[in-house]
Amino acid sequence: MCKDYPTRVKNNMKATAVAPSNIAFIKYWGKKDEVLRLPENGSLSMNLSNLLTTTTVEFDKKYRQDEVFLKGSTLYKVEPSQEGNDPKRVIEHLNLIRKMVKTNLKAKVVSQTNFPSGTGLSSSASGFAALTLAASKAAGLNLSEKDLSILARQGSGSACRSIPDGFVEWLDGSTSKTSYAISLFPPDYWKIADVVAIVSTDKKDVSSTAGQKLVSSSPFFQTRLQNIKIKLERAKQLLTEKNFPLFGELLEAEALELHAIMLTSRPSLIYWTPGTLKIMKLVKKWRGEGLPVYFTINTGQDIHLICEQKNIDKIQEKLKEIDEIKNIIINYPSVGARLSDNHLF
Ligand code: DP6
Repeated sequence: MCKDYPTRVKNNMKATAVAPSNIAFIKYWGKKDEVLRLPENGSLSMNLSNLLTTTTVEFDKKYRQDEVFLKGSTLYKVEPSQEGNDPKRVIEHLNLIRKMVKTNLKAKVVSQTNFPSGTGLSSSASGFAALTLAASKAAGLNLSEKDLSILARQGSGSACRSIPDGFVEWLDGSTSKTSYAISLFPPDYWKIADVVAIVSTDKKDVSSTAGQKLVSSSPFFQTRLQNIKIKLERAKQLLTEKNFPLFGELLEAEALELHAIMLTSRPSLIYWTPGTLKIMKLVKKWRGEGLPVYFTINTGQDIHLICEQKNIDKIQEKLKEIDEIKNIIINYPSVGARLSDNHLF
């Protein structure tokens, strides 16, 4: 589905975008090209209505250097950090856009995320999708959905899936021009939800970018690659059929496969905490008792419970009884990145 990104008034170099995080049902883990962020395999995801980043970008000659404020309060120094949205990566992304419009103008970037970062909720996906739309618009570009997705991918791979609406496929592609995300179905296509359980807001030790560099050290990675195309096709078929139990089984098995790769990488990557594991086991128990709910986990301890919307209340009730859970965020399938008039500065 294509959205219209209207042309900006000339000389107005400020723009704001809001973008959702997304949850991958078939995961992206491993790159064919580190710089371009071309994935080893295609992936499948759903945009999330309540995990959002809002970003305002302004290019202006009054800025002598790029100023990057993450969370709207702190001016981060320009130095490498573990965080997905670290200022160095933000500035590299601005450089790509400056190159496209042939400008040297510096920018101010203010970005606010309404959920914890570095805990497994993909803040780099919402962050780079919002930055891509806001910065390209502020620079006077009027990119298509496809070109926005290609550009977002170069900031953080999973960000390319936060550009189109609803249920999304990231097409594998062997070149930059052919590796982008498309909407398979709009948000109202299927009444499912992602109930996120925040187990802790502690930041992970190893970022997704660093973790992915270890993929080929796992003896299971080649096996994964041999089967992944069939698995992706199967997931798309079950999505088309809206077969919730089989879709759920597949996405949970996929999350466990991802973590099997992580656990067997050298050095090993262990993102779960006791709280994560407790919920994983409970989800299986609840299923045994007749409640259809499945888990998926990314790089971090926080856990996503995928269910039909009619079962959200039941799941929420159960989660409220678990001491380890700090917060619960209910997410519906959502539209992708969009422009906003509510500038952050
Ligand atoms: C486990 O998109 O954060 O969440 O491209 O290096 O920024 P970079 O990696 P990133 O990796 C996401 C990994 C994942 C799986 C997924 O979302 O598909």
